[in-house]
Amino acid sequence: MKEQLDILGADFMAALAEVKSAEALKELESEYLGKKWKLKAILAGVKDLSIEDKKTIGVAANTMKNDFLSALANKAVEIEEAYFAQIEEKEALDVSLQYPSKNLGHKHPISHTTELLEDIFISLGFKIEDGPQVEDELHNFDKLNIPHNHPARDVWDTFWVSDDINDSKDIGERLLLRTHTSPVQIRTMMSQELPIKIVVPGRVFRYEQEDARHTCNFYQLEGLVVGEWVTFGDLKWTLDTVMKQLLGEKTELRFRPSIFPFTEPSAEVDVSCQICSGTGKVKGKNCSMCSATGWVELLGSGMVHPTVLEGCWIDSKKYSGFAFGMGIDRIAAQRFGVSSSRMFYQNKLKLNEQF
Ligand code: PHE
Repeated sequence: MKEQLDILGADFMAALAEVKSAEALKELESEYLGKKWKLKAILAGVKDLSIEDKKTIGVAANTMKNDFLSALANKAVEIEEAYFAQIEEKEALDVSLQYPSKNLGHKHPISHTTELLEDIFISLGFKIEDGPQVEDELHNFDKLNIPHNHPARDVWDTFWVSDDINDSKDIGERLLLRTHTSPVQIRTMMSQELPIKIVVPGRVFRYEQEDARHTCNFYQLEGLVVGEWVTFGDLKWTLDTVMKQLLGEKTELRFRPSIFPFTEPSAEVDVSCQICSGTGKVKGKNCSMCSATGWVELLGSGMVHPTVLEGCWIDSKKYSGFAFGMGIDRIAAQRFGVSSSRMFYQNKLKLNEQF
């Protein structure tokens, strides 16, 4: 009987090795351990054995049954793993696959110009900062010395978040789409140690009547330097250096007195027109880019107003700073010789593909 058991065990193992599917495994299980299981048939003869033999055969049969069960369980796991491995292989996604495409596209002229500007400023030791496009009134206006009802708010008229939201807010907390990147000056001065030397590229919004030079959404790059002994001369040198690097050594800058509530003194800065090389004429005709003046308005700038510094808990007797805000679109238009910066937002491939 022991022999019969051994043969049965060997048969089982051989049959199990052949099993490849969950169904076949089920069949094998019922064949050996089911109602009419083979082991049972062998055990039917046990009653004729001596008590001693009965014991040994009983134990051997039980052990065999348990061996069968665990072998079946292992096989089930093996089959399942093989099943998933095969699915994994079949459905694997090769992300490195090269697909020959004729037109991969390229960066938009505004992104390209932003990155060039960032690189130049980083090389001069500036850090890049960021701020929210949905800004509050305090940062966009009040802290920049433009209090509630100040007429200068008209110059920076913008889109406000819906009344349902803003009605429940206090003045100062009301939300709007930022009109300039200048609120990031405030955020930085209120949160960082001096000295500060940052530029902030970003999207801004205006409530504008659109024309060739005005869009209700455009890009600015803000600059802010605050520390001891920061002068207007530093501002001039910085802008001159950056514009020469960006547009070429022959580029000239012109500073015109101006007014901004958050800087004093203030200046608007023009750059010599790249289209007509500052002559105002192209092939004998008036240059349309600069309206034949030879100059293109590029940015606003000035020394940070003491009230703005004090509002950010900076001692205006000890520290000074300069700031500027330039229109990236205008710079891109100059660099790429595009006569209307509005064209950058019209998604015309014919325009974008030229650069
Ligand atoms: N924020 C101003 C504008 O959008 C530009 C500016 C920035 C002027 C910093 C002075 C200093 O017009």
